[in-house]
Amino acid sequence: MPQVTYIEPDGRAVTLEVKSGRSVMSAAMEAGLEGIEAQCGGNLACATCHCYVQEPWLEQLEPPSDDELLMLENVAAERRDNSRLSCQLTVRPQLDGLTVQFPERQS
Ligand code: FES
Repeated sequence: MPQVTYIEPDGRAVTLEVKSGRSVMSAAMEAGLEGIEAQCGGNLACATCHCYVQEPWLEQLEPPSDDELLMLENVAAERRDNSRLSCQLTVRPQLDGLTVQFPERQS
């Protein structure tokens, strides 16, 4: 199973095995990670699943949809070039090693 590493706001890194087809958000929520809220449950309506995708993974991801780009305007923390909404990131075998960092706050 692909491994995804999440870096919490306090710098702690947590690596999870995530089944292909699951979202980066859902695995983090199930594991009870603290840096994510995901208030809308993945419906692209809250922007509280914001993450920063670490190099070199950004280029490996599907580009954000127009709706994701619109919702990224509502993130609570600083929006950066590598900002994505983790509910829109689907894990697949090629993403083994994906690393995302959660911002200091989600709301
Ligand atoms: Fe609400 Fe991602 S969980 S936009």
